[in-house]
Amino acid sequence: MRLKILGSAAGGGFPQWNCNYRLSRAARAGDGGVQPRLQSSLAASAGDDRGWVLFNASPDIRQQISDTPELQPAADAPLRSTPIRAVVLTNADVDHLAGLLSLRERQAFHLYATARVLDVLAENPIFRVLDPAYVRRLPVTLDRPFAVEGPDGATGLTAELFAVPGKVALFLETGAAAADFEADPEDTVGVRITDAGGRSAFYVPGCARVDPALLHRIEDGDALLFDGTVFTDREMAEAGVGEKTGRRMGHLPIADEDGSLQALASAGIARRVFVHINNTNPILDQRSPERRVVEEAGWEVAFDGMEIAL
Ligand code: MLT
Ligand code: MN
Repeated sequence: MRLKILGSAAGGGFPQWNCNYRLSRAARAGDGGVQPRLQSSLAASAGDDRGWVLFNASPDIRQQISDTPELQPAADAPLRSTPIRAVVLTNADVDHLAGLLSLRERQAFHLYATARVLDVLAENPIFRVLDPAYVRRLPVTLDRPFAVEGPDGATGLTAELFAVPGKVALFLETGAAAADFEADPEDTVGVRITDAGGRSAFYVPGCARVDPALLHRIEDGDALLFDGTVFTDREMAEAGVGEKTGRRMGHLPIADEDGSLQALASAGIARRVFVHINNTNPILDQRSPERRVVEEAGWEVAFDGMEIAL
C-alpha cells in the first residue's frame, strides 16, 4: 500500500490566514526550516491501477490534487474522470469535510463515515452539491472492517473505523463538556487501513487521550499516523493566540505528562508519524529542540507530499 500525506497541518493550515505568530511569520517569509503545510488529509492506494482513497477532504483539496499527479485524471482517461474513488471521514470538523464541496461536478465516488458524521452532512443542505446520483453516502459501523469500494468496485483496501476519545465538531459544540466530549462514540474515530497483503496503517488525526483500548488496538500496525496538533497543552495560550488548551480542543499534547510520546512509548509499532500539526507547534521548525525531542523518541513529523510505502 502507498500512503501519501496531502496535508500535514491542523485546521487553518500553516501559515493560517490570520496568524501572526512567529512560526506563521517564518513560513510566510520563506524560512527553509519552517515549511508551509496544507490542511489535514491522507491518500491511500493499494496500487497505481487501483485508484486512491482519501481519508478526510480538507478545504485545501483543490491545491492538494494540483500538487499530486496521482490524484489527477490520467492522460487516456475520459474527459471527466478522477482516480479518487472514495472518501472516508474521521470526524465532521471543517478541516476534514469542507473539501467535499470542491468534489462536486457530478463525479462519482463513494463517501464513507459514521452515521453520526453523515447526519452532519445531511443537516447542512450545502452538501447537496454532491448529487446522490453520483456520490453514495455509506454509513460505517464501528469496529467492523469493510472493503472500501468505488463506484466501479473494490479499491483493494480494507478500512475499519473505531472510536477514539474526542468530541463533536467545533461548530457543533454546546459548551457543556458532557454533551461535547465522548457523548457519542461516532463523533471522532480513528481508522485502520489494511491492504490485501495484511499490511496496515492507523490514521488518528484527532485524539483526546490514549486509553488501553487504543494501545491494544494499534499493537500490530505497521505505521501510526497520529494527532500531533500541539506540543504542550497550554501552547496556544503561551503563544498568546488563544485561551484553549489542546485537550479542550480534543487533542492530546505531544510532550506533557500522559502526552502522546509517553502514552504511546510502549506501542510496538515500527513507524510513527505526527500529523494534523497546529500553527503554534514548535516541531514545525526543523531546528527546534522540540523537533529533536520527537525525533529522538522515534517519531517522524509529517510534511505535505510525504510518502509511506508499506
Ligand atoms: C480541530 O481539529 O480541533 C478542528 O479542526 C478545529 C477547527 O474546526 O478549526
Ligand atoms: Mn482538525
